[in-house]
Amino acid sequence: MTIPSRVFSGVQPTGNLHLGNYLGAIQRFVALQDEHDCLYCVVDLHAITVWQEPAELRHNIREVTAAFLAAGIDPKKHIVFNQSQVAGHSELAWIFNCVARMGWLNRMTQFKEKAGKNRENASVGLFAYPNLMAADILLYRATHVPVGEDQKQHLELSRDIAQKFNNDFAASIAENGFGEMFFPLPEPLIAGPATRVMSLRDGKAKMSKSDPSDLSRINLTDDADTIAQKIRKARTDPDPLPAVSDGLEGRPEAANLAGIYAALAGTDVPGVLAEFGGSQFSDFKKALTDLAVEKLAPINAEMRRYLADPAEIDRILADGADRASVLAEETMGAVKDIIGLIRH
Ligand code: AMP
Ligand code: TRP
Repeated sequence: MTIPSRVFSGVQPTGNLHLGNYLGAIQRFVALQDEHDCLYCVVDLHAITVWQEPAELRHNIREVTAAFLAAGIDPKKHIVFNQSQVAGHSELAWIFNCVARMGWLNRMTQFKEKAGKNRENASVGLFAYPNLMAADILLYRATHVPVGEDQKQHLELSRDIAQKFNNDFAASIAENGFGEMFFPLPEPLIAGPATRVMSLRDGKAKMSKSDPSDLSRINLTDDADTIAQKIRKARTDPDPLPAVSDGLEGRPEAANLAGIYAALAGTDVPGVLAEFGGSQFSDFKKALTDLAVEKLAPINAEMRRYLADPAEIDRILADGADRASVLAEETMGAVKDIIGLIRH
């Protein structure tokens, strides 16, 4: 049996959505809509693996939804929803807790980074986080997952879980009429010039929601003046931009700004250098500011418009959850049959 292609991805509602989230993920979600069936999920259950203030969480769920819609995701053609409204995510995550091995999770670098030195005090959810992510994807038997570079290891774990489930239950999968494999091995879609957008203050650190310096990132809620100021203050080196990519070697800040420009312009880094090679940063930064404002201002305005009507956002989420639930229940029924649980 062939499994049709289906795209799934998620963004955590943890505040400060930034240019890295947009270029590494959301902009690419939009591009995939024309040729695929897509589900885009606000992964609120992932967010609560670390402390979230309830009122802020509720706002941030709506804000990520608004960003999806403002960027151009069509909630009628595709499914936009939040994870906690579809019970199957938690249910399948539990089953995957029993498939994944401690050793696999112990290797996850993001857990080590997020838990920091005080690992004893990290939530169990933070440790099991990649199993929930595998459940998100496989609940819809999704085949393609657009994400930034930082999610590569988690995607590999999702594939390992799918593979182990298929192997462990091979006989039962066949008996239930699913042929040789039940879950597809989901493929990461990590491509383009901005899979890892770096901090504007330090070309060796990832642009991140949790960086204490707001100057390190461009937030999707920043206005034109703030964007201009942050780009003006972005760290660079004294040399002009090179004409070819080799010249970016050892120049992480220059490489980052060129990558950001390329992704915003829908071109690639060699194309940007062909245009700006030899330019001083002062000039390049002006062009980058104009481009960033041109691309981000309409999104910013649309986000505000959606956020002014939270009831409408909630309606869109509820409709998405209803449609996602139909698919989820089908998978969960089959999973129960395969494992030997008795369905309701
Ligand atoms: P998160 O906010 O952690 O849920 O991330 C949402 C999406 O944005 C994921 O696909 C991440 O890989 C992507 N992402 C986060 N930070 C960056 C970055 N600095 N550069 C590129 N992609 C990123
Ligand atoms: N872990 C992802 C991140 O932090 C978010 C996420 C959760 C996700 N579930 C997912 C991404 C499923 C892709 C597919 O960015």
